[in-house]
Amino acid sequence: MITRDLNKAIECLNSEGIIGLPTETVYGIAANGLNESAVKKIFEIKKRPLTNPLILHVSSIERLEEIADEVPPKAKTLAERFWPGSLTMLLKKKASVPDCVTAGHPTVAVRLPNHTMTLELLTKLSFPLAAPSANPFSRVSSTTANMVEKYFGENLPVILDGGSCTVGIESTIVGFYGDEVMIHRLGGISVEQIEEVVGKVKIFDINDSAPIAPGMLKKHYSPITNFICTEDVISEIHRHPNNKIGLLLFKNALQDFPEHVQVILSEKGDLSEATRKLYQVMSSLDEMNLDLIIAEKFPNYGLGKSLNDKLKRAASK
Ligand code: TXA
Ligand code: MG
Repeated sequence: MITRDLNKAIECLNSEGIIGLPTETVYGIAANGLNESAVKKIFEIKKRPLTNPLILHVSSIERLEEIADEVPPKAKTLAERFWPGSLTMLLKKKASVPDCVTAGHPTVAVRLPNHTMTLELLTKLSFPLAAPSANPFSRVSSTTANMVEKYFGENLPVILDGGSCTVGIESTIVGFYGDEVMIHRLGGISVEQIEEVVGKVKIFDINDSAPIAPGMLKKHYSPITNFICTEDVISEIHRHPNNKIGLLLFKNALQDFPEHVQVILSEKGDLSEATRKLYQVMSSLDEMNLDLIIAEKFPNYGLGKSLNDKLKRAASK
């Protein structure tokens, strides 16, 4: 049930239950991150393989100590700059973190989310919250409480309504290797923003056969409708005559194709606005019984790079 009542959420979480949880990036499905049987319920409801580890959400940098062992200097700098916010860091885990959270990895993914309601909730709990995005495995993530309800309905007794997500795509995940910083998943904080703070970073190769962050799996975040992503939308339309097409466009409508459904993500050409709307628009286009969705590639810098990464995965067969 959708609610704004924190007490209901607290009661549920304190008795090993799972809830729908708003964050600024996307909605999550949350449970007591230090309790194995609570955490297992997340994997069950999402039909998520146990090999895919979860992010722990904390209420303050100080509480990092409860779950992470060493915090490298660059991680400290990044946390000070971007937390609360859309950055997840992979840090050496403490023994208190159950193996099922990290899928047996020696590192734990940690994030301090930037969402008033969720921060208030976290400060009232004695444990961090494990929370993956609120979508069944490999489907588009939820950015509103209604999307969470549509996916999980009755199976989630509490869905906290914290409004539409202000960022709209998942957090950026970084790992630390000696003095090097590696981006494991592109997300709500751009590569350029991170490099401004810690210098040049590496980006995990999507074609690598053994992905460390399954966010880096080739196919992910996908609508059910056939989905194509291209720089040249018009040529792609001509390749599919007699198709009912949904066009997912960055800033300009296409005058010559009034017969197709067209959604403009940001008339101003603002990448943050486009990011905020992307998943909701993908999800509503997916419900329109179209033959095909054609998405226009974004300019490949800043958040545009993260958005292109999401489109590429959505289009992956
Ligand atoms: O914005 C977000 O990060 C959202 C909100 C709810 O916080 N959460 C989210 O969680 O996107 P999830 O589970 O959908 O994606 C987390 C990604 C997965 O690809 C997982 O494999 C990776 O983080 N991950 C988690 N722990 C890891 C670890 N110890 N090492 C490497 N990758 C890890
Ligand atoms: Mg996810």
